[in-house]
Amino acid sequence: MSKSKIVIGNWKMNNSFDEAEQLITDIEESLSDYQLDTEVVLCPPAIYAELVTDHASLEDSKFYAGLQNVSEYDNGAYTGEVSASMLANMDVDFCIVGHSERRKYFGETDDIVLKKMVQLLNQQLIPVMCCGENIDERKSGNHFDVVQKQIEATIYKLTPEQMERTIIAYEPIWAIGTGETATPAQAQEMMSFIRSLIERKFGTEVAFYTYIIYGGSCNASNALNIFSQPDVDGGLIGGASLKADEFIKIIEAAETAGKEN
Ligand code: 13P
Repeated sequence: MSKSKIVIGNWKMNNSFDEAEQLITDIEESLSDYQLDTEVVLCPPAIYAELVTDHASLEDSKFYAGLQNVSEYDNGAYTGEVSASMLANMDVDFCIVGHSERRKYFGETDDIVLKKMVQLLNQQLIPVMCCGENIDERKSGNHFDVVQKQIEATIYKLTPEQMERTIIAYEPIWAIGTGETATPAQAQEMMSFIRSLIERKFGTEVAFYTYIIYGGSCNASNALNIFSQPDVDGGLIGGASLKADEFIKIIEAAETAGKEN
């Protein structure tokens, strides 16, 4: 049995409105030549949500709309926040939660990550839950423990039905934006470990179907080797998702790897 890959572009806080529009148009035009099995998701800054949903909602669109963050709260007096029901209202289908940049700069704890996931799941959105260790934790050999704790504090609190609608992104912090990618073997080792944690809690079938994707300096040159690993179901792409050509090559790599395994 095989399953198709997923490639998610996380634009982070980049691009003017015009640049965002151009990037979406370029990606859309390039993808129109393809018959894709790979699922593609674009996650722009929230203020550009409608740009992406407008394109993603076209009948022959080859990508889905996602965002990078959501409030842990319901609607109400939370100045500056955007709720999961608003995302659902705008036809956003995916949302990243628990990215290490949000954990580091905005105090997003595992408790908050869990609340955000539940908000999204209640609105039928798909959370993309990020986990991963920093360089000190990797060097001291604690990386498995760190990731296990993150999974236990978030994913393990979901019902099986919620788990089936959740994507896990393994993003080693030392590989994010550094140009230093995890080797395919390092990615596979951790992602097979994560799958074994899912299996322990939710059983073999849920573990098999759970999407576990890799993020951290993934680019057109290394994507195929990483995506060809048996437990790597695709990628969460930062910098390389801002260049249409490069992003398309990563999608091509996912397509090739998806046919191989
Ligand atoms: P880079 O691909 O720029 O390393 O970023 C990865 C990431 O954080 C995606 O969420």
